[in-house]
Amino acid sequence: MKDNCNREIKHIRFSVTSNCNYNCIYCDREGFIPKTTELSVDEITQLCRILAQVLKVTKIKFTGGEPLLREEIVEIIRNVSDLQLYKDISMTTNGVYLFEKAQDLFDAGLNRINVSLGTLKPDIYKKIYGSDSLEIVLKGLQKAKKVGLIPIKLNYVVLKGINDQEINDLVNFCAENEFILQLIELHKVPRSISQDNAFYDKYYFDVMPLIEEFERKATNIEVRGNMQNRKVFTLPNSAKVETITPGHEFCMGCTKIRVGCDGNLFGCLFRSELGTNVKEALKNNHSLSMYEKIVKQVVDTREPYY
Ligand code: 5AD
Repeated sequence: MKDNCNREIKHIRFSVTSNCNYNCIYCDREGFIPKTTELSVDEITQLCRILAQVLKVTKIKFTGGEPLLREEIVEIIRNVSDLQLYKDISMTTNGVYLFEKAQDLFDAGLNRINVSLGTLKPDIYKKIYGSDSLEIVLKGLQKAKKVGLIPIKLNYVVLKGINDQEINDLVNFCAENEFILQLIELHKVPRSISQDNAFYDKYYFDVMPLIEEFERKATNIEVRGNMQNRKVFTLPNSAKVETITPGHEFCMGCTKIRVGCDGNLFGCLFRSELGTNVKEALKNNHSLSMYEKIVKQVVDTREPYY
């Protein structure tokens, strides 16, 4: 299905809970909805089936809050995998429960993971994420790799004066472990949540010079046309670095639709207020053509640039 700007919807980002055990200083509160009722496991499964059929998508990423805090997460992955409609089932997690759950998640049908890891130093880790869990996260990463949750991507949000000096260490760490580094430019939190740009102004780090350096050094450069035109660089030490820099080209290449844990279906992280809550509709067992109308209406709320 295409939106009004001729962008085809190719994947889903599905939040399964608002709960989070972290307190990241840059948090954009993705998936955070106060006092909400989460969709049940059956509702999630049903919605995943409907969205795959209506949108003809085969890629889905589960997020939160922190998705591994959802008690039934393994069951959710198993149900969605059992639909046999998705070829790529992934998850974004802070990794605290990875060591414990990697095997079960893999057995249930999870293909791969992205883990927030913007530093290898425990004190900086605490400062960014508000947690002392670096060690268990690192153990979780090794476990995830061992059980086959690959490729593993590390989300590195670059913050001026905090972790902007760690780029080489993280690139080397990724090369050694065959992880992919996702270099993420800090973005402002959505308008609906905060008017305060002081944090952004203080910690925003311009990643362009880093990208230019990658352009010079890379042995290969790929553009992920389906994924917000992200560039992926292969560096001489074989490290792979993907860059995520919001901007016009980014939105132009956006092919994503989002579901909040309460059932809100929406077209852009920054415009959740334009969504439609489908929880009630799921109770009515509508025909597929009825769901198609609901989904199309949401897809049509997507704007050229948020
Ligand atoms: N800017 C950039 N990335 C962010 N994330 C969360 N908040 C921000 C922000 N303000 C990223 C985290 C997490 C992913 C889901 O979103 O790195 O891994």
